[in-house]
Amino acid sequence: MKKTFVSGLAGMLLGASMLMALDEKELTTKMKAAGDHMNAIRKAMQGGAMADVATHAKGMVSALDGTEGFWKERKMDDAVKFNLDGLEGARALVKAAEGSDNAAARTAASKMGGACKSCHEAHREKVSDGVYRIK
Ligand code: HEC
Repeated sequence: MKKTFVSGLAGMLLGASMLMALDEKELTTKMKAAGDHMNAIRKAMQGGAMADVATHAKGMVSALDGTEGFWKERKMDDAVKFNLDGLEGARALVKAAEGSDNAAARTAASKMGGACKSCHEAHREKVSDGVYRIK
């Protein structure tokens, strides 16, 4: 009885910790999604297609959201901050695009892009073409 209870509890704890933090493969999946949304946002901004900007900015929010635990677990405080900046930028971009505010959209997009760049400079290492890892 007791043993079953303990292993059940361990299973629950394991399940909870898996929910909290991503592994590296999941981070890569999220980053690839962020890259796709970034390209789409750039194109849409150039063409002034604000509805598309809003759609992809929302996609960017989901791509960056939920990665905080990954950086926290590795005690990478600067990355936690870059991620938050990126999220703030993406959320501001959704708002600006929905309000068709071009100037605000540009400001938000540059905040968002700055966060990608800062984190990549600090923590992304190129292994080979199209293959990256964390440093
Ligand atoms: C908190 C840090 C951080 C932020 C913020 C961040 N990235 Fe990344 N990104 C990484 C790291 C580390 C890697 C390398 C590891 C990997 O690919 O999972 C990476 C990899 C990538 C890749 C390559 C994925 C692959 O392996 O093919 C793309 C594309 C990418 N990021 C896009 C973005 C975009 C666009 C943003 C901003 C909207 C962004 N990232 C924000 C840390 C970050």
